[in-house]
Amino acid sequence: MSRSYNIVSIPGDGIGPETNGAAVKVLEAVSKKYGFDPRITEYKAGGCAIDAYGVPLPGETLEAALESDAVLLGAVGGPRWDMIEAERRPEQAILGLRQGMHLYANLRPATLMKELGNVSPLKDPGNIDLLIVRELTGGIYFGKQGSYKSTEKLFDGTRKGTVAFDTESYSEAEIERIIRRGFEFAMKRNKKLTLVDKANVLCTSRLWRQIAKTLTEEYPDVALDFLYVDNCSMQLVSRPATFDVIVTSNMFGDILSDLAGQITGSVGLLPSASLGNPGMPGLFEPIHGSAPDIAGQNKANPIASILSVQLMLKLHLGEKDAADSILEAVRKTLADGARTPDIAVHGDGEDKGITLVTTEEMTDRIVANLE
Ligand code: IPM
Ligand code: MG
Repeated sequence: MSRSYNIVSIPGDGIGPETNGAAVKVLEAVSKKYGFDPRITEYKAGGCAIDAYGVPLPGETLEAALESDAVLLGAVGGPRWDMIEAERRPEQAILGLRQGMHLYANLRPATLMKELGNVSPLKDPGNIDLLIVRELTGGIYFGKQGSYKSTEKLFDGTRKGTVAFDTESYSEAEIERIIRRGFEFAMKRNKKLTLVDKANVLCTSRLWRQIAKTLTEEYPDVALDFLYVDNCSMQLVSRPATFDVIVTSNMFGDILSDLAGQITGSVGLLPSASLGNPGMPGLFEPIHGSAPDIAGQNKANPIASILSVQLMLKLHLGEKDAADSILEAVRKTLADGARTPDIAVHGDGEDKGITLVTTEEMTDRIVANLE
């Protein structure tokens, strides 16, 4: 086969192995149809790696990721590992991969698919089709953090006790490269870019605004506006269809993307692409977590993971036809009425042509619908 890629698969914990397994199945099926070889190798990260090796991100996993063309990640974490000290928690695997692979640009598209009918909890959602561009390797997630015992007191004499702190810090270079990505995507879409920040309070946000304003000169066709993050969360509920591209910091992007997932039906639908500079390997993962409460029950929605494969093929590997085929297959499967529990709207039933399906059934139906 002429086109061959080196894909690292990291199933992780909780529902990760189920949803990532679905993604791998779809990738293998679509690759046969479109004549490329995905060469998938599996590695451990997260809680399962703590169990096997004592660390959340084994060196061999990061090395394989760095040598790959792309990484497909499931999810990590679970209550079993919640008591472990901060540096060895499963989540450090994701943060370590993002940082170690220099994946500073996280793309989280949220589209309300018409095939899902009235799945949005909003009364009148309109045509939601937005893209969150989240900074992924800086800000409060990676700033100085710690805790210490304080001898100070509050105004009323109460002892402060232990103090914990996290630091939000961004450099000009980090801000510029992510806002540029925001402008670039806006150029390819509807030419609207919203910078979401907290510039009325945070010094970092004011630097973001200043840099964004300077960049408007290079992208005169893009209409740039600014929203405070609290206001943005409100506007995403009241007028979601008016957003095009949102660019924002690591933590704000994390929070707003869950909101974007819910208004378009379920976090179980939203994929993400994490990219570095051109030519570097990318990482593709659902925005949802490991959902330990439904793990191992064949109930999880595999669509976020499957659409992560679609993003990988479209944005990263240049396999556009295969990517389109996946998207069409997902849409057709939903149009045919297949629903995992998270997207089976209360009140809908067999009478409306809706069929409740398992993770595996949803995946098999999508595979069968690949053209
Ligand atoms: C996400 C997740 C992660 C994050 C966690 C698991 C560290 O919530 O990808 O949105 O906060 O980035
Ligand atoms: Mg999140």
